[in-house]
Amino acid sequence: MYNSRISGLGMYVPENIVTNDDLSKIMDTSNEWIIERTGIKERRHIKKGDGNSTVVMGVKAAKIAIERASIDKDDIDLILFATLSPDYYFPGSGVLVQELLEIPTCPAMDIRNQCSGFIYAISVGVAMLRDGYGKKCLVIGADSMSKLLDWEDRSTAVLFGDGAGAVVLEAYSCSGEKEDRGILSVDLNSDGNYKDILHVDGGVASKTTGYLRMEGREVFKHAVEKLARTSEKAMAKAGVKSDDVDWVVPHQANIRIIQGTARKMGIPDEKVIKTVQDHGNTSAASIPLALSVASEAGQIVKNDLIVTEAIGGGLAWGAIVL
Ligand code: COA
Repeated sequence: MYNSRISGLGMYVPENIVTNDDLSKIMDTSNEWIIERTGIKERRHIKKGDGNSTVVMGVKAAKIAIERASIDKDDIDLILFATLSPDYYFPGSGVLVQELLEIPTCPAMDIRNQCSGFIYAISVGVAMLRDGYGKKCLVIGADSMSKLLDWEDRSTAVLFGDGAGAVVLEAYSCSGEKEDRGILSVDLNSDGNYKDILHVDGGVASKTTGYLRMEGREVFKHAVEKLARTSEKAMAKAGVKSDDVDWVVPHQANIRIIQGTARKMGIPDEKVIKTVQDHGNTSAASIPLALSVASEAGQIVKNDLIVTEAIGGGLAWGAIVL
């Protein structure tokens, strides 16, 4: 049987650093409040004239992932692009990456599942490779959250950053046993009843781009509970226990959500990868960015057992054991 494993990781964040002090100059907030309530110290925002966009950042991350996977871009069989902030309504970001990287004809599509988009995209990639769509899949998570922020709303404007992460997923034949490497299990969930607590209030119906709107406390309550539960479900599917886990790579939204979830899962804080302090919440880019940072820092190494989890607008949430 075939399974998929990650053979290359890449990331990109814009050069423009926006600190909490920078934000406190344009809105009624403070470094102390932001750090205490969220753990965020700074984030990167696209700057006018720097040439970046969701797709451009995605391409930069993808080039690194392809190089690190030691593959030829012409061998990519499938492109999946997770984002909530595409450059255009259409064409999708996936085909724009295909054009910019000059990847020959192959299926390319966007996954629109907000902060859990990367988890969903990996799941789609694994399933499609297993179904014979090819051997190599480029999965990108990228978002330009700064373009959707309402600078009059301090409760959301301080939370988000821009960036991109990418992985190359490769199919390999395996025995179907617990000892297999790669993606071991996936758990996905969504519940449209909570569509209003985290959304962007624009779109074709209103002919506006809109702004991100969030009931922060409500989202917080759902996040810890649902992230711990989906992680436990993914671990049960993979036949592993909390003690087996080397690293949790959580969606980087808020340090209190990250730590609360890990506590519920019975995972000690030192096994949790944290990048929220440097990037803020970068939505679909958050997990591949955190994976890249942890891998570059030598924290995550080959054969480590990793649980990664995310929740976002929809609500949609899920976890992967790899
Ligand atoms: N600076 C200073 N004060 C702020 C502020 C800011 N940036 N944002 C909100 N406040 C104020 C509020 O106005 C409120 O003031 P009041 O008591 O005078 O009305 C006070 O801080 C508390 O607001 P509250 O919303 O209850 O704070 P909180 O402890 O819930 O923290 C969030 C707010 C947004 C940080 C928190 O709810 C959160 O992280 N939610 C989840 C968000 C998230 O991660 N979403 C993405 C998931 S993908």
